[in-house]
Amino acid sequence: MVHADATNFSPHLTKPEAYQQLLDEAEGLCYEQRNWVCNLSNTSSLLWHLYHSLPGPSSNVNWAGFYVYDHTSLPSKPRLILGPFQGKVACQIINFGRGVCGTAAATQTTQLVPDVEQFPGHIACDSSSKSEIVVPIVVQGKGVVGIIDIDCTVENGFDEVDKEYLEKLADFLAKSSDWP
Ligand code: SME
Repeated sequence: MVHADATNFSPHLTKPEAYQQLLDEAEGLCYEQRNWVCNLSNTSSLLWHLYHSLPGPSSNVNWAGFYVYDHTSLPSKPRLILGPFQGKVACQIINFGRGVCGTAAATQTTQLVPDVEQFPGHIACDSSSKSEIVVPIVVQGKGVVGIIDIDCTVENGFDEVDKEYLEKLADFLAKSSDWP
């Protein structure tokens, strides 16, 4: 198998099966490779192709990627900085506590947002995004090293299955990469 074949998700898979394939592919791609830029780049590609292999609402995902801890931020004013992603260009810096991403980072909890208009302080990088899920990546002893952010152009784009598997992915990435 060549590398690009890892992004082939059969359109006949259920969402849990597709996520399981993603976890297996991520494990293969991160084998003997611990660089976080490399691993998050390939993972954002896997996520993008996974959602577009599924029926709606998942097929309406318009942004899939990562923000990482910004080490130029003051410890008293931590920030996230844009990391590897698929989709349109996005905001570069997000303060902890701001928007969906900053809330997930500050609280270390997944934010499952069925309607972004109802989320206080939502940061609209793209006005076509209507729902969103953000999962923190937490490394023991370091805290939040980054977040997974997935946006969708329809409301209620994500459910408990997305939450369950994206949290598994976050745990895997926390352990499988070396974080600055
Ligand atoms: N909407 C996010 C900002 C990041 S973009 O969606 C890529 C937020 O409110 O945190």
